[in-house]
Amino acid sequence: MASTRTPAKHFSPLAIGAPEPYRALPVKLERMIHFIPPHNDKIRAKIKDIASQVDVILGNLEDAVPLDQKENARKGFIEMLTQNDFGTTGVWTRINCLNSPWVLDDVTEVVAAAGNKLDVIMLPKVEGPWDIHYLDQLLAQLEARHGVTKPILIHAILETAEGVNNVEAIAASSPRMHGMSLGPADLAASRGMKTTRVGGGHPDYGVLADAGKDGGAQRNFYQQDLWHYTVGKMVDACLAYGLKPFYGPFGDFSDSAACEAQFRNAFLQGCLGAWSLHPTQIDIAKRVFSPDVNEVKFAKRILDAMPDGTGAVMIDGKMQDDATWKQAKVIVDLAKLVATKDPERAAAFGL
Ligand code: GLV
Ligand code: MG
Repeated sequence: MASTRTPAKHFSPLAIGAPEPYRALPVKLERMIHFIPPHNDKIRAKIKDIASQVDVILGNLEDAVPLDQKENARKGFIEMLTQNDFGTTGVWTRINCLNSPWVLDDVTEVVAAAGNKLDVIMLPKVEGPWDIHYLDQLLAQLEARHGVTKPILIHAILETAEGVNNVEAIAASSPRMHGMSLGPADLAASRGMKTTRVGGGHPDYGVLADAGKDGGAQRNFYQQDLWHYTVGKMVDACLAYGLKPFYGPFGDFSDSAACEAQFRNAFLQGCLGAWSLHPTQIDIAKRVFSPDVNEVKFAKRILDAMPDGTGAVMIDGKMQDDATWKQAKVIVDLAKLVATKDPERAAAFGL
């Protein structure tokens, strides 16, 4: 028995009057998803200014919002949306998880009040495609009811062992899927990993070099990336289905260098952005998730040397062919996208 809808039905709206699902995701720059607490009046007062500095602004309704502020966070987020126009900055919310008592009101109230201003809903603790199907259907009903004209996308947080196990089925579940973020804190807890950190490495997780000629008197220990496996698995599932992979939070605000290293590993492995939980992480994300100027210039030389993308040429002693042309195109396409939002980098890229 088939476990997915037919290709034709996959792309038809799930409610009469709901907008058509996207066949390909809108092209958007999303180097950082900047989390703000919408119940905080002081932050809300500065929201236009904050939004102008980031690619995506996200009103967080889930973890880190105290129990007695859950309703206020939702109200604050709705106020934020109805009173502002955020221009080209993406507008997202992280709703509460599906087994919580708040999630139904999160979805119904936000879509009713401001569905046309909302780009993406981040869904935490996704365990399998059934979670996406539930929200997908509910969103279609609400879009139809409230005259929402473009589909509200779903971004899943990968933060349970079961979710990681089902990552490919989650990616395949619906054309409403935008992408995924790694949630290292909840995932560590769910897996029983022995770390209390929110992302980043661990001093005890590494490889001890072999004993050398000195009989092991001096052996180097090389710290490894705890998240390598999960990020790789998520990137493959996302890219196979045309979705966008993201690294999630980095909790140690006092260690910018470690945050930058974690973000960069994710970027090199294929991620398009990360969460910023603190203003200092916005610039780190801009630095990391924009391509390097020298890489852009070199990639541009490859594209110029191979106008139709085929054959083989040597540039600075390095072999280039159809495959490296595709690698170069990834870098130049990203640079062009960054240039639309970042005049300083645009000038440096010289595209
Ligand atoms: C994020 O939500 C995490 O659990 O790391
Ligand atoms: Mg979490």
